[in-house]
Amino acid sequence: MLKTISIGQLARRTGLAVSAIRYYEAQGLIHPERNAGGQRRFLRADIRRLSFVMIAQQFGYTLPQIAHKLAALPEGRTPTKRDWAEVSAQFRATLDAKIETLTKLRDNLDGCIGCGCLSLENCKLYNPDDRAAKHGAGPRYLMGNKP
Ligand code: FES
Repeated sequence: MLKTISIGQLARRTGLAVSAIRYYEAQGLIHPERNAGGQRRFLRADIRRLSFVMIAQQFGYTLPQIAHKLAALPEGRTPTKRDWAEVSAQFRATLDAKIETLTKLRDNLDGCIGCGCLSLENCKLYNPDDRAAKHGAGPRYLMGNKP
């Protein structure tokens, strides 16, 4: 039998409110068992699972998207490194794309981003006559198009 922890212990370890943990449970992100007294009992691996949820939310994933990806993890046993590697691989491509966009944003925040505003002095140079618009809507130079 696996050693389990209480919702209070899980809250202390993750920094989440007990109510937030119950909410995540209701959203299908964690699946505690109940003891004979009806109290929720969590695996220690749920600390990592919830930490993963918090980080994925910070990267803009919705709870249903996160729940869908976490569904690949085994229930009733501690996920192995290999289990986590499979889940992480699903996030990696999206994260790489986000990192690339954020890096471009950081490096070009004060420059022309090809958004069609033509409001900066250097837009005349980088986006003359709003040429970026031929690629579609949005900040085209942050979305991968070249000036
Ligand atoms: S910053 Fe908007 S088109 Fe240059």
